[in-house]
Amino acid sequence: MPLKIAFDIYGTLFDIQGVVFLLKGFIGDLAEEFSLTWRNKQLEYSFRKGLMQDYEDFSICTRQALDYTSDYYQADLSDSQKDSLLKFYKELPPFPDTVNGLSDLVESGHKLYAFSNGKCEDVEALLNAADLRKFFTGVVSVDNVKSFKPDPSVYLHFLRESESTASEAWLVSSNPFDVIGATSAGLQSAWVKRSFGAVFDPWGIEPTITVSDLVEFSERIS
Ligand code: LAC
Repeated sequence: MPLKIAFDIYGTLFDIQGVVFLLKGFIGDLAEEFSLTWRNKQLEYSFRKGLMQDYEDFSICTRQALDYTSDYYQADLSDSQKDSLLKFYKELPPFPDTVNGLSDLVESGHKLYAFSNGKCEDVEALLNAADLRKFFTGVVSVDNVKSFKPDPSVYLHFLRESESTASEAWLVSSNPFDVIGATSAGLQSAWVKRSFGAVFDPWGIEPTITVSDLVEFSERIS
């Protein structure tokens, strides 16, 4: 049966840690830790703005988190260094399995959607830069409901936009909070465990399947 499959973007299709190579030139050995803190703060800001019902789009969370992280590590990044990091965020590298996984799924007749906290224009730009837009039927952003994952309203927004029922829809994400949010909203879910040491939150809400990459996901659901 053809499925409607929502793919998380940051950390699932694209490698956020790709920014480390640029950071290394600015702050040396601190780059990896800096990048992880930046990402965690970005997500924390999205959760907090969502809870406060004071939505500002994800690129603002990303920029504010970069300012915070620069201050936290006393990295003293200049405005132009920050601008190049934020620009790089629009050209992140896809993971090595992304193209093959997506193309196998399209060949099997499934309908794919990019589904992100990011604004549609930012996600479109990222997909176009990596020549991945052609695999997707549509791009769905939380921006239209002015809230963030894992608010149930954003998963219902995806179901509406993709004209699917919860039982025929899948969410594929490396982010456990996203997988738990989608599962709790009734979607089927795949957790992409992208590193050996990744830990799934012990909330008693499990993904439908766990895979190590998108090629394995494609094989498992075919
Ligand atoms: C996204 C973030 C959560 O792409 O990774 O929605």
